Amino acid sequence: MNKNLRKAILAGNWKMNKNRAEAAELINELKQSEIIKNADCEVIICVPFTNLETALELTQGTNIKVGAQNCHFEKSGAFTGEISADMLTEMGVEYVIIGHSERRQYFGETDLTVNKRTLAALNAGIKVILCVGETLEQRDDGITEEIVAMQTKIALKGVTEEQLKDVIIAYEPVWAIGTGRTATSQQAAEVCGFIRSTVKSLYTKQAADGVTIQYGGSMKPANADELLSREDIDGGLIGGASLKAADFEALVRSASK
Ligand code: 13P
Repeated sequence: MNKNLRKAILAGNWKMNKNRAEAAELINELKQSEIIKNADCEVIICVPFTNLETALELTQGTNIKVGAQNCHFEKSGAFTGEISADMLTEMGVEYVIIGHSERRQYFGETDLTVNKRTLAALNAGIKVILCVGETLEQRDDGITEEIVAMQTKIALKGVTEEQLKDVIIAYEPVWAIGTGRTATSQQAAEVCGFIRSTVKSLYTKQAADGVTIQYGGSMKPANADELLSREDIDGGLIGGASLKAADFEALVRSASK
């Protein structure tokens, strides 16, 4: 099975949660976990910009990697409120989430800006967690595959096969995010498999077999084993359950092979 060749990656997306003291407390709890220390998967926490420094400092010498939740596509300039990819690289940030549905929904993110941000991050040496996923209306209209293919193809425009090695794709059905309504493992696996075939159509079978595809949307300890047992689901992008050490630890255990 190709799944065994791919890196399992579990990433927490803290979204707009945790002040500095709360962040330090959670990271210190994660650091003490034997399960996390011995994880057989990559472990990432994507924290608010204001917690990046704390997170980088506290995770030094551990296997916990740090990510941001967005970056701008220009190198510098008059973009009030934005952070460039180079600014993240300079800090030592290794990952960035791009195209999260909350950014698409509330902050005018489009497939084109997702593509620009993806290229900017990759060119700055940051690995990208690229989010795609359909809304409930789109699923009900039977256009899930069209939407996800379009998002994937546009986001990856201009990304070379070599750069693709630094891209993780996260399938996050919008209707499953923060709703407690998880996609069934069948639904999630179908779309993750479809995303892999889309990547194959853009690159090669080898590239598609190598790309890590996460599922995200109400993933929690109770449903993780089943989701992660699927051939095309190589990890998770976790919102709510990444904010509690015990839950995140349990998810790391599930993602470890
Ligand atoms: P929840 O796990 O809270 O549903 O959030 C998923 C998500 O959006 C991760 O990016």
